[in-house]
Amino acid sequence: MQLLSQFLRREQLDEELTDLIATLMVACKEITLKLRQGAISGVLGTTTDVNVQGETQKKLDVISNEILKKYLQGHMTVAGLASEEESEPVLANPNGKFLVVFDPLDGSSNIDINVTVGTIFSILEANPAEGYHDEAPYLQNGRKQLAAGYVLYGPSALLVLTTGNGVNMFTLSETGDFLLTREKVMIPEETQEFAINMSNYRHWEPAMRTYIDDLLEGVDGVRGKNYNMRWVAAMVAEIHRILTRGGIFIYPWDTRVPQKPGKLRLMYEGNPMSMLIEQAGGLATNCYSNIMDVEPQDIHERVSVALGSKAEVATLLEYHQRIDSIIDNKH
Ligand code: AHG
Ligand code: MN
Ligand code: MN
Repeated sequence: MQLLSQFLRREQLDEELTDLIATLMVACKEITLKLRQGAISGVLGTTTDVNVQGETQKKLDVISNEILKKYLQGHMTVAGLASEEESEPVLANPNGKFLVVFDPLDGSSNIDINVTVGTIFSILEANPAEGYHDEAPYLQNGRKQLAAGYVLYGPSALLVLTTGNGVNMFTLSETGDFLLTREKVMIPEETQEFAINMSNYRHWEPAMRTYIDDLLEGVDGVRGKNYNMRWVAAMVAEIHRILTRGGIFIYPWDTRVPQKPGKLRLMYEGNPMSMLIEQAGGLATNCYSNIMDVEPQDIHERVSVALGSKAEVATLLEYHQRIDSIIDNKH
C-alpha cells in the first residue's frame, strides 16, 4: 500500500503543497483523537458562544478550529486562513504562498450522537503583494483551488483529496499513516438515491418541489424508477456516499431566510466539495450556474447546492429551466 507522502511524490506535486497537506493531516489526526475520546475527555456538548454564521458552537467546533489554526499558523507556506468559525481571516506568515480555508467540523449536530462528522478544506494561491488583512485575497472562485478535500471521521478516518488530477482516498492506519485505498474515483452517472432535508419541503421553490415530487412517484411517475433517500446531516458523509456509489445531494435555497442564497457556505463547503465532485466526473451547481464559477463577494457567503451523479443533476437543472420559465412567463 502507498503512503500519502509517496503518492504525492509520485504525482509530482509542488513540494510545499505536499508539505502543507501533510501538516493538515497532522491536525486532522489530532482532531480524530479528540473525537475518539468523546465524553471521556469532556469535549462533547455546546458552548455558550454563537459563531459569525449565527450558529451555536459545539465545543468540538471550537477545539477543531483551534487545532487547525495552531498547525497552519505555524506553517511557513501559509499566508493566512479563513474558517467557518472565525469572523475574520487570520494572518499566518506573510511570505507564505498559500491560503487555507476550511470548515473545521462539518455536521457538528452529529457530535453528541456519535455519528459521522468531518473536516473540509480548500487551498488557494496567495499573492503576497496584496497583504492578508482583509478578505479580498480569499475571494477567488472555486476554479482557482489548488487542492481540496475532506477528512471523514467515521468508523474509519479517511482523507479524500484532489489536487486537480482526479480524486483519491486514503485510510488512516493503526500506525497513524494515511494509506492510499481508492484511486481515481469516478461517480456513476445515473443514480436512484437522493439526499435532501425533506422537512423543508414547504419552504422550497416550485421547481425543487416538482423535482422531488417526481422522485417520490417512483416507478409510477415520469422518472420511471424507484428512488431511495438518505440524510446524515453531515455534508461530508453525503458526499462520501455519492463518491462511493453515486447519488444527488441537495441543499436548496428556501424561503426561511430569503435574502441568503442557501444554508451551506460557498468557500468552506460548496467549492471544495464541487471540486471533488467534478474531478470524479459529477456535476455541482447552484441550479443556475456551476458552483465553482460563482465569484465570491464575502468569505462567509452562502450558496444553494445540488451535486452528484451527472445525469441526475442535469435532470434537476432541466426542471429549473422549465418551471422557472413557466413562472417567468406568468409574471
Ligand atoms: P456545519 O456542522 O459545519 O454547520 O454543517 C452542517 C451542514 C451540512 O453538513 C449538512 O448537510 C447540513 O448542514 C445539515 O442541515 P440540517 O440541519 O438542515 O439537517
Ligand atoms: Mn459544514
Ligand atoms: Mn462546521
